Amino acid sequence: MKLRIDGGRLLDLTDGSLEPASVLVDDASGRVLALGTDLPAGDAQLTLHGEVLLPGLVDVHVHLREPGYTDKETIHTGAQSAAAGGFTQIACMPNTQPPLDSPAWVRWVLERAATAPVQVHPVACITREQRGEALTDFAALQAAGAVALSDDGRGVQDGGLMRQALAWAAELGLPVAIHAEDESLAGPGVLHRGAAARLGLPDLPGEAEAAMVARDLLLAEQTGAHLHVCHVSMESTVSLIRWAKQRGVHVTAEVAPHHLLLSEDAIDGDDAVWKVNPPLRSERDRQACLAGFLDGTLDLVATDHAPHTAAEKAQSIRTAPFGMVGLETVFPLLYTYLVLPGKLSLAELVRRMSTRPAQAFGLTGGVIRPGAPADLTAVDLAHERVIDPERFLSKGRNTPFRGWQAVGFPVLTLCRGRVVYQAQEQTCVAAAVQSTEGGTAR
Ligand code: DOR
Ligand code: ZN
Repeated sequence: MKLRIDGGRLLDLTDGSLEPASVLVDDASGRVLALGTDLPAGDAQLTLHGEVLLPGLVDVHVHLREPGYTDKETIHTGAQSAAAGGFTQIACMPNTQPPLDSPAWVRWVLERAATAPVQVHPVACITREQRGEALTDFAALQAAGAVALSDDGRGVQDGGLMRQALAWAAELGLPVAIHAEDESLAGPGVLHRGAAARLGLPDLPGEAEAAMVARDLLLAEQTGAHLHVCHVSMESTVSLIRWAKQRGVHVTAEVAPHHLLLSEDAIDGDDAVWKVNPPLRSERDRQACLAGFLDGTLDLVATDHAPHTAAEKAQSIRTAPFGMVGLETVFPLLYTYLVLPGKLSLAELVRRMSTRPAQAFGLTGGVIRPGAPADLTAVDLAHERVIDPERFLSKGRNTPFRGWQAVGFPVLTLCRGRVVYQAQEQTCVAAAVQSTEGGTAR
């Protein structure tokens, strides 16, 4: 079936211009057939009202919790949440139960994800059971479909083992995505220094992150591996990555929306909604992460979408699990709080949430053009809404952005030519998809 989407404005990522254009997509091939103002009718038609068409967003750091923790999230609910957030491709972290440390579990995730609304790319463990003791079989994991390696949730404590991991990953061309946390420095810490002191809780020092990033940058330089630094939160880490890039180390880095928009100063009591690893840092660190993101030291945005149950998050910060959800709020938040105040352009934000993450993990995507996969989202830049976690499609409600005003919510997401999300009471999207023959097409 060919679907024509009219009434949108297409964002040109090269010059940032917005031009009215229709898009003709084909769900059989999953590709864009044509773009322009005078396209042939499709088998079905959908009318937008000036929303902006972007390439489908790509998030390389998401926790889907399956297998094992389906009360927090499932591959399906996580993928629905992604589609509602404008994403068409996500990479899922392997800290499941059991962890994704074997080709069989990587294939199991891919099989379950085959019917999910967005494309799901498994990341496999660096070490068996994420215990940091013995490497997994990288070649077999790659052959099974893993797009990267990570022990996210924990750092690999043994530098010698990490060197072996990077050397092997370099041979295979697999990125190694690090959760940088030296446990001997982190101890039982739960919050950054200032907030920890205020609330009388143990401190999770920033050196636990930066020291491991320094180690792994040196090892990446030595081995030639592609090191991907997850969720950068410290000023010192940004400086280390800047230094490594100047030396020609193959490193990419991500920043999470909460580290761009929040500091420890926001923490107003013992509420585990604030608990995330790495923690919300000082205002100086937040500003350094933002500056590093704006100057390209930090390449891309990743949400670290980490759903937990309401009961888990009802505990004290001391005992609750770390993590915040992010898929359904990240684009409107960054559009509202970075693009609208003029800190970066819409086109640059989209590059950092689509084109760059796709490139970093070797995925196809990040562009709308004839022949490319029909992965796209339409965002409403005109209407403001209050973030209401009760409306999330994710099972997780653990967002620190409840009640924030934002514009730029997605109204429509297509993945490989299929409509995978359409905003419910969307006044801007005319009715459902209507067949040109008069019936309802889907
Ligand atoms: O806040 C976090 N949540 N940080 C992590 O490293 C792990 C994640 C999770 O799995 O919940
Ligand atoms: Zn994570």
